[in-house]
Amino acid sequence: MPELKLKHIPLTPRIGSQLDIGRDELLSGDYAADIRKILVERGVVVIRDAHVDDDQLRHIAATLGEVRLGQSKRGADGVTLNEGEGGVLKVSLDPEINPQYARFLLGNHLWHMDGPYEAIPPFATLFTPYRMANVGGDTLFASTYAAYEDLPEEEKDFLAPLRAVHTMPASLFPSMRNVTPEEFAVWHSYPQAVRPLVWHHKSGRKSLVLGSAAAWIEGMHPAESHDLLQRLTLHATQDKYVYRHKWQAGDLAIWDNTGALHRVMPYDLASKREYHRCTLNGEEPITAVGRDHAVN
Ligand code: OGA
Ligand code: MN
Repeated sequence: MPELKLKHIPLTPRIGSQLDIGRDELLSGDYAADIRKILVERGVVVIRDAHVDDDQLRHIAATLGEVRLGQSKRGADGVTLNEGEGGVLKVSLDPEINPQYARFLLGNHLWHMDGPYEAIPPFATLFTPYRMANVGGDTLFASTYAAYEDLPEEEKDFLAPLRAVHTMPASLFPSMRNVTPEEFAVWHSYPQAVRPLVWHHKSGRKSLVLGSAAAWIEGMHPAESHDLLQRLTLHATQDKYVYRHKWQAGDLAIWDNTGALHRVMPYDLASKREYHRCTLNGEEPITAVGRDHAVN
């Protein structure tokens, strides 16, 4: 990485760094360019003892990119965005805190990226505990850059032209029991999105585009497609590509949604685990290998 003002300590060799920065420095925005560079290079960054409230979370987010604001109706690409009040979403399975979305959030237990249905998926999310779980509730991050980079060259060539179809039912069904036909019908009403399996980023780097929403590979026999997606997901989520974050009060984590998958480990619902998050708009569509970035 080029010379940086900000120090970071790798948490595993392939993903995750802890930043040596305090709340005031975060709020100043003076280190925003370095934080972005480290974030994209390391997949997830963690700041201990940040203790940010909602306003500070929004403020820090705005130094790093364009904060997404919630929208309760479906946007042009048919996707409903819910980013909470003033861009701060309360991530909780408690139906009292999240009457409409608690059931959708069960999908967070599976390896996923946020917003693969959107034409330009979110760039990054800032995440801080408000109430932690007593048992479970660690968040895991897996580098889809590292997983891609380690594939044999012939496999990279094989994957380059493939596209996966991302669906809401695929991303939610495996995380739940007792899904009602009505609920299933709502999921099915969401549009499907076809996305390249390998993302050729503007930076020139490439990553795998996987996650629970990736239902099948376009044009491939269903059984072969199922095997391929399972195999790639197991490959990409091996321990060597994963950072597991054990939360402490005051933590602030930021993940790069374009180069990492994430998931939460099951937790004690009685704990009423609640995290506050602020998400940054995406900056580029998922572009296939060999496609012109300007045209896409
Ligand atoms: C999310 C998410 C994980 C967690 O908010 O998008 O996946 O640890 N959260 O709650
Ligand atoms: Mn998520």
